[in-house]
Amino acid sequence: MNLKQLANPRILDQPVYIPGKPVEKVAEQFDIAEHEIVKLASNENPWGASPKALEKAMGALKQVHLYPDGSGTFLLESLASKFSLSTNNFILGNGSNEIIELIGHVFINETDEIIFGEHAFAVYKLVTLLMGAQPVAVKMPNLKHDLNIIREAITPKTKIVFLPSPNNPTGTANTKEELSSFIDVMPDHVIVCLDEAYSEYLEDPLDLRPFIKSGKKVMGLRTFSKIHGLAGLRIGYGYGSKEMISLLQKARQPFNANSVAQAAAIAALEDEEWVLQCRRRNENGLKQLEQGLSELGLEYVPSYANFILVNVGNGRKIFEALQQKGIITRPMPYELGNYLRISIGTEIENEKAMAALKEVLPKLDLK
Ligand SMILES: Cc1ncc(COP(=O)(O)O)c(C=O)c1O
Repeated sequence: MNLKQLANPRILDQPVYIPGKPVEKVAEQFDIAEHEIVKLASNENPWGASPKALEKAMGALKQVHLYPDGSGTFLLESLASKFSLSTNNFILGNGSNEIIELIGHVFINETDEIIFGEHAFAVYKLVTLLMGAQPVAVKMPNLKHDLNIIREAITPKTKIVFLPSPNNPTGTANTKEELSSFIDVMPDHVIVCLDEAYSEYLEDPLDLRPFIKSGKKVMGLRTFSKIHGLAGLRIGYGYGSKEMISLLQKARQPFNANSVAQAAAIAALEDEEWVLQCRRRNENGLKQLEQGLSELGLEYVPSYANFILVNVGNGRKIFEALQQKGIITRPMPYELGNYLRISIGTEIENEKAMAALKEVLPKLDLK
């Protein structure tokens, strides 16, 4: 008997998320100094974390021989105070990806249908398949979530709608009005998970709290990986009704949120000035890239986040050509094969990316 025969049959066809190459490997492969590499591949914050968060992280390192606070007491208190909710309205995750997985463990059965957009963040489908449920990937005209199309896809078997706004990789967002009227008419058997990973980049995001308080089956997913600049520490959270959170807590492993991450996240939440500064810098970076792309005659999807999806004709070829020049971007899956996703970098990084794109574009046969 081989190992595959012993595996859960579901796992054999499970697709695997393929991350990009690390900076060190790209530097080595193309003989470029590491500090020359520009990584615009994973929608990270190019200005890094708040210096106050870094200081707390370094302080916490002195205690890494101890397990973290398994209840995340102080971070939960900070979140509760920031949102004017109770600590019982929050759950911490090893990144918000883990919260998506916890939702899968707690709510998804094999007979369920799980709805998301055809170009939505990839992890919803991975978790749906992992749980053996039926993914329902709805059309996204103009690469944007059309909430009427989602509503029409709901059946008695629908358990969850995953809705990211802004969405990765398209950068598109739904208006507050669209989202709130969508949540208002959700049938009672459907849970809406609003993925707010990039919501701090919005000027005026939807406030989910009234919906949570009125008993709607909604939850918000957030992360410290994006505007807070703590992607390497893996810390995110979900918030929802106390009932929702207490169910999710049953599937959470003790100590899933590490001590360095907890300490840094508290300081990151407090440093509102840093968040605001990063939002403004991101707006400028986005304008810079939009202008550069327009000058190159490239079409892009208007973005509400810290990345931009660009129609380059053949995303994989341009990705490879840019990578050879030390610019790491993200090629897209087959359905978006014409596109390349470029994260917003610092002014200099954006300049380098546009200069490299200008060089590689005419040299390639993009068919
Ligand atoms: C829409 C969306 N949700 C969730 C995540 C997961 O973030 P993390 O697990 O780093 O918190 C990402 C990461 O890229 C994302 O783009």
